[in-house]
Amino acid sequence: MSDTVNIGVIGAGGMGGRHAVNLTDEIGSARVAAIMDVDAARAEDVAARCGGSKVYADAEALIADPDVDGVVIAAPNRFHAELTRTCIAAGKPVLCEKPLATDGEEGRRVIEAEVRGGRRLTQVGFMREYDPDHLAVKRVSDSGEQGRALVFRSVHINPGWNDFPGLGDVVNGSLVHDIHSARWMMGEEISRVYTSYLPFSPAMPDSARYVVVQLQFESGSLGNLECNSDAGYGYEISVSITGESGVAQSGPLSSPVVRRSNAIRQWVEEDWLQRFRVAYIDEMRAWVKSIGEGRTAGPSAWDGYAAMLVADACIESGVSSKPVEVDLPDRPSIYG
Ligand SMILES: NC(=O)c1ccc[n+]([C@@H]2O[C@H](COP(=O)([O-])OP(=O)(O)OC[C@H]3O[C@@H](n4cnc5c(N)ncnc54)[C@H](O)[C@@H]3O)[C@@H](O)[C@H]2O)c1
Repeated sequence: MSDTVNIGVIGAGGMGGRHAVNLTDEIGSARVAAIMDVDAARAEDVAARCGGSKVYADAEALIADPDVDGVVIAAPNRFHAELTRTCIAAGKPVLCEKPLATDGEEGRRVIEAEVRGGRRLTQVGFMREYDPDHLAVKRVSDSGEQGRALVFRSVHINPGWNDFPGLGDVVNGSLVHDIHSARWMMGEEISRVYTSYLPFSPAMPDSARYVVVQLQFESGSLGNLECNSDAGYGYEISVSITGESGVAQSGPLSSPVVRRSNAIRQWVEEDWLQRFRVAYIDEMRAWVKSIGEGRTAGPSAWDGYAAMLVADACIESGVSSKPVEVDLPDRPSIYG
């Protein structure tokens, strides 16, 4: 491999486009060598923005291209697991956007493929592991200064949704980030969930406007995840860990507090691309570095799989209105 790491990007929409631009503008050691999207015009636009990448109409051909050292998957969720398995079969490192799969069963097949290959090749796009606010909260909790971690909380506010999402859309598309944060920041597995949700209206009982999940971790510690799918005012994430003698909580919004005309105002970010701008760059920088060093780091396929099993349990619990146990198999040795 030359000093430049050549990346292929599958899916040139909002997220794939941002990853491609970050690779081009922010990561000196990387180049967007190839782009694929079923919307050819979109792929052409992003390729031009990235200095003239090759454009593919076929994802398998991009993955097989010997000039591609690593693959970013930012196509819609239903393609993630199969494309990741294709990358694993080709021996290519892959950064697969969340969720790794559409359910635990699909996720299990990715784990099987990676274990069969005998090494980690997959990183999952849980970029909060690179967010300074999340890292700061975790650092305080891990230091032990507030004693044992008792309760994890996260509040996930989305500005809106394209249409009326169902419970599965909100859990797999949005809350899966919080599920991963809970496991990663508490450093233990979730053993049981209980989900409640509020539909948009009584006439749409299957829609999910607000989802609340109560968690229990293996040690008995507790958690609470809240996700508003349609807040109507902006995008906000907050996270906290309560310990025996204190609470570590992420700070308020990053924008200045402005006092003017007898009012106090603070700008709220519009979406995740603004809120996690730095995290997406740091995630990409770390992933490219790991490819250059011939290793895989960051959130693993196992993290993606475990999050899917918890997500499946959250959906089952919401539908049945009963608590559901999460049955996570033993972690294969390649995941440490
Ligand atoms: N990590 C995060 O915070 C984060 C944020 C947003 C989106 N995402 C994930 O990124 C993925 C893409 O989301 P988005 O917001 O960019 O959506 P998007 O709709 O903006 O873009 C998706 C793109 O994929 C293309 N596409 C559709 N089918 C395809 C296929 N079979 N092969 C290749 N490309 C195909 C579409 O034409 C479109 O350009 C989703 O899986 C989503 O969950 C992650």
